[in-house]
Amino acid sequence: MDRRFYITTPIYYVNSLPHLGHAYTTIVADALARFCRLQGYEVFFLTGTDEHGDKIAKAAEAQGKTPKQFVDEIANIFKETWDKLGINYSYFIRTTSDKHKRVVQHVLQTLFDKGEFYLDEYEGNYCFGCERFLTLKELDEKGLCKDHKASPVYLKEKNYFFNLEKYRGWLKDYLAKNEVIYPSFYREEVLNLLEEPLPPLCISRPKTRLSWGIELPFDKDYVTYVWFDALLNYLTGIGYPDEPSWQDYWANSHHLIAKDILRPHAVYFPIMLKALGIPIYKKLFVHGYWLMGSLKMSKSLGNIVSPLELSQTFGVDQVRYYLLRDMAFGYDAEFSLPNLINRINADLANDYGNLVNRTLSFLERNFEGTIPPWGELTPEDREFREKVESGLKRYLEEFPRLNFHTALEELWQSIRFANVYIDREAPWTRVKEGNYQRAGTILRNIISAIKSFALALYPVLPNSSLTLLSALSVLPNTPSLIPSSISLIPSSPSVIPSEARNLSFKDLFNWDLPEPGTKIKRCGPLFPRVDEEKILKEEQRVEAKKEAEVKEEPQYITIEEFRRIDLRVAKVLFAEKVAGADRLLRLEVSCPEKRQIVAGIAEYYEPQELIGKEIIIVANLKPAKIKGLVSEGMLLAAKDANGLAIIIPEKEKEPGAKVG
Ligand code: MSP
Repeated sequence: MDRRFYITTPIYYVNSLPHLGHAYTTIVADALARFCRLQGYEVFFLTGTDEHGDKIAKAAEAQGKTPKQFVDEIANIFKETWDKLGINYSYFIRTTSDKHKRVVQHVLQTLFDKGEFYLDEYEGNYCFGCERFLTLKELDEKGLCKDHKASPVYLKEKNYFFNLEKYRGWLKDYLAKNEVIYPSFYREEVLNLLEEPLPPLCISRPKTRLSWGIELPFDKDYVTYVWFDALLNYLTGIGYPDEPSWQDYWANSHHLIAKDILRPHAVYFPIMLKALGIPIYKKLFVHGYWLMGSLKMSKSLGNIVSPLELSQTFGVDQVRYYLLRDMAFGYDAEFSLPNLINRINADLANDYGNLVNRTLSFLERNFEGTIPPWGELTPEDREFREKVESGLKRYLEEFPRLNFHTALEELWQSIRFANVYIDREAPWTRVKEGNYQRAGTILRNIISAIKSFALALYPVLPNSSLTLLSALSVLPNTPSLIPSSISLIPSSPSVIPSEARNLSFKDLFNWDLPEPGTKIKRCGPLFPRVDEEKILKEEQRVEAKKEAEVKEEPQYITIEEFRRIDLRVAKVLFAEKVAGADRLLRLEVSCPEKRQIVAGIAEYYEPQELIGKEIIIVANLKPAKIKGLVSEGMLLAAKDANGLAIIIPEKEKEPGAKVG
């Protein structure tokens, strides 16, 4: 059996600070990595940052920094955040690293030599948020990008293209026959998409528009399209093409993403791999969105929750538990502070924490904190073991299917039953009767179960599990299934975190652990209760303060908001009066693509005066119909009591030149 497991997260754009959506994917990957390590797999867990592209260049510019300065800073913030959230990745990849550039250029040259790319002129709706041309189907009814709720910009450019259509039949067939995409409704979505011809993929960006990217090795005037560069990180991370072990990991590659980036991962990437002669990855795991209200949590919508603030208030394990417990993998889930608090108080403090506290303090008071020997087992003791084991088994089945919420619910049935068992068997009554042997047997049974809960929950609650396992003195004595010195990829700092070397799921069903005579150490309450009223009041106070500040301040917009307005120079090619509308002129402009603009300036300008003039337009204003004519933008003009004047550049500029 192949005992390798390669798991990746998307590499995150550095134009946004890490938020709860990023944290969710990364926590899922971390939990899976830990789970597989405990099953004896050699795990390689890759995460990192996507640092090229237009969005990043703009974000750097907005802060007055060079792109390099900017990406270094934000990549560090991502690393620090993952460290604080206990993310145990094996390698952090950055697309601006030399190692990655070499891989991208190698792949580009290989595909170019194979004749996969061709030069062509293209025009269409370009979304700067997605960094790609969108098809009409990807626009909502208002003509906006469905994900970014922003109007795309109409662009016309000469670029290199990759003929995806050539591979559509192969991909359709492959995905229909192999269960590569999970959950299966995303596979259906991709198969549906593959029913229609695939537009060619534009793999370059002219340097005249964007220089922050990896140069095409066969044409110095272009850089690589950010997605083409980014997807290859999954190969760079494991040492493609030079390190011999990359193929072993690749054969077991699992990519974790949210549905926003399904198309690049399920269509572009497999086709890139096929063209390169590399087998398609093993699995693509796709999850839904964390929502705030009904909207996706995202930087562009300005509704993000900081995972660090949350974990500072509630604890890292608590946040990890909530995220894994409250989202059904594949579907959207709404973030809610009261639900988070409820999970902490009900599941962690009441059910689990309380079971641990009362059992361990009872052991300390009555058995000097030492594990007593077994007495005879009653049918109730056996029933308890069966219930615990069945919960553990269900957990082990559901977890690798990514049904974390079900896995945890199953395990919690066992935890809740342990509380019922201790109440029913009442060891305190046995102690009062002087029957220490019976009380000891009940306690031992529960403590062994607690050991199994802690071990099983290590992928979800790594900190409290380690605290608990060390209190139970289980950690140092556990022989490991995992060899301790694996360094298959020399460039990776550590493939196996040291703590995991002592842990293995094989101890889950061992009722003799901890052994009789083991001294149990004290550990404080694992999950303190949260004062819901206090937290929610504080939250309301902060919100009210923010609102008051907003009201007091003049209504500023941020530089990012301003940059979303696409102001451009446009040359008037033609102008005429609109029949039946005294105030309207119809202009045909070049910016540089041809557009029609309907403007209310007929009272101030004769059409002939305007022909040949350069004006400034808002190019990404949603197209609107005026007197039956579609206006694709708005011209800028100043107006006062003396009339109206259109804004013109002080010197002649190329049509399409950006204004800002
Ligand atoms: N850089 C690309 C990915 C390239 S991978 C070769 C990118 N970056 S991103 O910063 O926008 O990250 C997108 C990913 O962040 C999602 O696929 C998901 O993993 C995570 N999430 C971002 N917002 C999210 C939610 N609101 N909810 C859940 N996950 C979210 O796309």
